[in-house]
Amino acid sequence: MSHNEQDKDKLLDHEYDGIRELDNHMPRWWILGFYFTIAFSVVYIIYYHFAGGPSSAQEYEAEMAAAPKRTTPETDTTGGSGITLLTDAESLKAGEALYIAQACIGCHKPDLGGSVGPNLTDDYWIHGCKPEEVAASIKSGFPEKGMTPYGNNQPLSAEKMQQLVSYIFSKKGSKPVGAKPIDPAREKLCKS
Ligand code: HEC
Repeated sequence: MSHNEQDKDKLLDHEYDGIRELDNHMPRWWILGFYFTIAFSVVYIIYYHFAGGPSSAQEYEAEMAAAPKRTTPETDTTGGSGITLLTDAESLKAGEALYIAQACIGCHKPDLGGSVGPNLTDDYWIHGCKPEEVAASIKSGFPEKGMTPYGNNQPLSAEKMQQLVSYIFSKKGSKPVGAKPIDPAREKLCKS
């Protein structure tokens, strides 16, 4: 059979202004794909509209709730702590006031250069340099070395702790004159 004869079999009866139509069947893969979309839409409507499937708003809420757990060190400005370092003058002033009022100055000096306690302005730390580790040091204290636990015995709210830690971090790299030397046996290089 020539091509023209094949086409003749498919030729439909009607004719519009000399234009005629061939009855070409859709390919099988296309038909199956089409039936699949119909079946999918039925399942979709039943699941999302009647069977309690989550709405877009609920999916959004769930993703937002899960987001903090997914943050990586690169994107997380809180150092993984939940403590966001404050940089505004008012908060840092409040932090400084706490640093003085909580008697930190007695052992870490007013310029944070350290005396009984270590220098808090350098990149060498004994108990960790991340904001949450510094907060943990302040909370637990080191009673065996003379540093009382602040925030346990003496209440220090989360907000005050944030201000105090932010103040300490704001002094980083300030290189106070006469700072206590690094104890290489205990203080390790740690950058947050
Ligand atoms: C009585 C002295 C004393 C006072 C008061 C004191 N500290 Fe300390 N602090 C120390 C000593 C000593 C260490 C070192 C502990 C060690 O050797 O393990 C230390 C360690 C620290 C560390 C950990 C440093 C590191 O290298 O990991 C931080 C942070 C800190 N102090 C903050 C404070 C703050 C903030 C206050 C006030 C709320 C305060 N300290 C009050 C004596 C003191």
